[in-house]
Amino acid sequence: MKIEQPVNTDLNEDLAQFEKLPPKIKELAILMNHAEKTTGPESIALRKNLPASPSTAEEAIVTRKSREIRLASRPDGKPTVENFALVEVTLAPLEVQQVLVKNRFMSVDPYMRGRMNAGKSYVPPFEVGRVLDGGAVGEVIESRAKEFKVGDVVISNCGWRESFIAAPKELHPVRREVQPLSVHLGALGMTGLTAWAGLNLINLKLSDVVFISGAAGAVGNVAGQLAKLQGCTVIGSAGSAEKVRFLLEGCGFDGAFNYKQGPVLDQLKQAAPNGIDVYFDNVGGESLEAALECLRPHGRIVACGSISGYNDEKPRPGPTNLFNMITKRLTMKGLIASDWLNRRVDFEQEVGRYYEAGKLKNHETVVKGIDHAVEAFLGLFEGTNVGKMIVDLR
Ligand SMILES: NC(=O)c1ccc[n+]([C@@H]2O[C@H](COP(=O)([O-])OP(=O)(O)OC[C@H]3O[C@@H](n4cnc5c(N)ncnc54)[C@H](OP(=O)(O)O)[C@@H]3O)[C@@H](O)[C@H]2O)c1
Repeated sequence: MKIEQPVNTDLNEDLAQFEKLPPKIKELAILMNHAEKTTGPESIALRKNLPASPSTAEEAIVTRKSREIRLASRPDGKPTVENFALVEVTLAPLEVQQVLVKNRFMSVDPYMRGRMNAGKSYVPPFEVGRVLDGGAVGEVIESRAKEFKVGDVVISNCGWRESFIAAPKELHPVRREVQPLSVHLGALGMTGLTAWAGLNLINLKLSDVVFISGAAGAVGNVAGQLAKLQGCTVIGSAGSAEKVRFLLEGCGFDGAFNYKQGPVLDQLKQAAPNGIDVYFDNVGGESLEAALECLRPHGRIVACGSISGYNDEKPRPGPTNLFNMITKRLTMKGLIASDWLNRRVDFEQEVGRYYEAGKLKNHETVVKGIDHAVEAFLGLFEGTNVGKMIVDLR
């Protein structure tokens, strides 16, 4: 990854402004800057001396500098760090009806791989030389909009950057009491919504035997937990023995197997000898073929993702056994989570209740710092995450 020299940065002007500040405010700004850069108990100790949430422009002074990740070039096949650039920028003073947000956590997601390509999809492609975007949860540091005040916690699509300026309509408020704040990107965020929407899409029934691929990931583990809460029998596949254990012991699945350890069809038949009613497809390829084989008559498929093919340079041929759709009268429904945003309140109430009652767990893998965000993203294609992959920007 290229680390580019600061752009749009006028350090001397900033320093001159800083020098004009009253001594007490200068001291506070230095302290906050230090606390931001420090992790562990020292940081907590320093923060104890600070207001619980920044109430004036002091934190804004130290957050006017922000780092962001841009698309440096489009990948052929598997992306590498060379396709990204980390750039420092200086944010402008706020105008009326603008809000300054400091991101606390950001999301990296497999769908972003598709956005690195030039072609049009259901979301516009990332543009070369421009900052990437994606889900993030942050805190309002400064506000010139009546809709938000300093200290409010908001989710936005302005990830891949430490701080940003936005209009109120780009921000969605969430409750600070629901912790950790990263849950708003995981079980209670976009991936949780995807899991919930997928199960609603195919009208899940109590008696269903559900097979989920990519089950130890962000969408998969929540889909499995929700299906268990509805009384279904749930089987998952994932890419390591550790993940199989996680599904059985951490998520309460009834069965699980490592798809790398033998043909998926053989392992699925062993886990579900009487067949399956629902297949929640996160990976496509061999797993989809195996599911088509094992689905019972009138079975349903949630077509959620197809990560096994995202880095292919040429599209692979589809399943060889699609004829099962006819003979077994199967239904396959495509899912786009954003179509369900009008049901967000229902989702937040239902799944939020499960979470707050301790019935649904938010599992996540946390990578620290924006300079490791690309690594976290690339890790999705290597399976380095258990649960939601999160980048901690604090
Ligand atoms: N339709 C929608 O609106 C929507 C919304 C969100 C996500 N999705 C899709 O849902 C799927 C899961 O997304 P997520 O956010 O929950 O990601 P995730 O599962 O948390 O992370 C990706 C996981 O995919 C697995 N994987 C990587 N390469 C693979 C391969 N070649 N074959 C099989 N598995 C592979 C890895 O786990 P292993 O170690 O198990 O291989 C990895 O941990 C993706 O396909 C994504 O595009 C769709």
